[in-house]
Amino acid sequence: MNFNYLTGNFGIEISAKEISELDLDTEQTLKNLWHEHELLVIRDMDLDTQAFVRFCSLFGELQQNYFFFQGHSEGYPQVAKIIKEPGEKKNTGGIWHHDQGYYSNPVKGIALYGIDIPSKGGDTLFTSSTLAYGSLSTVMQQLVGSLNVIHTTELMLKKQPLKKSVEGKDGDDSSIERALKLMPLESAIHPAVCKNSVTGKPFLYLNRTTTSQFEGMTCDESMGLLNYLFQHIEKPEFNCRVQWCPGTLVIWNNHQVLHYAVNDYNQRRELHRVHFSAEKPIKYYK
Ligand SMILES: [Fe+2]
Repeated sequence: MNFNYLTGNFGIEISAKEISELDLDTEQTLKNLWHEHELLVIRDMDLDTQAFVRFCSLFGELQQNYFFFQGHSEGYPQVAKIIKEPGEKKNTGGIWHHDQGYYSNPVKGIALYGIDIPSKGGDTLFTSSTLAYGSLSTVMQQLVGSLNVIHTTELMLKKQPLKKSVEGKDGDDSSIERALKLMPLESAIHPAVCKNSVTGKPFLYLNRTTTSQFEGMTCDESMGLLNYLFQHIEKPEFNCRVQWCPGTLVIWNNHQVLHYAVNDYNQRRELHRVHFSAEKPIKYYK
């Protein structure tokens, strides 16, 4: 299968023509590429909702999405709509994060499909915590690898104050804020260094949006090292920036890859999202 590297380090791009005949060999190749490269961008797909669901199911069992409730595709509760209308100030996911780190079994895979895309802007940034781990010194790898981290929704709720943000809709909260208001406090403890169950590659499993501290340490004690690791993971050398078009399908490993939605547009944007394979991240023993 032909593909292009999106950067010198991370992410690959495939044309839909490469998978026009989706036989078993092609499916296995796609899955192998996803495991190996962590971020697949497939261009010029032509998927209705049923085809989107069927295609993404190749990668794992789709899960119901309870956080996004701007609506689901009719008849498909696993397909969440992510919509930003002109005039809305806030976007969803405008900070580096994994999704669902605060669950014991956070989804391993996320797929987003471009429906309605601004003429400019609205890109999504990704960063590989596998690359970030690999560039740490051996001593730092061993130190961090001996620790567990606490992920909690409490940080997200504090960082996104609940106030109205949609111009012209007096008294309304944005859909993001409505979602946050309904979100219960959740937390989970995970190893700070985990491994991909297929490739065995180690990666850092922590982010500035949901990781509050190392297990057994106070937040204050944790912050020095955590802030260093957050900044390290987010370095441009480990990043990949994806520009959307209608028909662009992006599938990434949500354990190994963090994402950041760039809020630099004031046109309508609609993406459809599914996630799959709720799995406990596996501790890596060096
Ligand atoms: Fe997200």
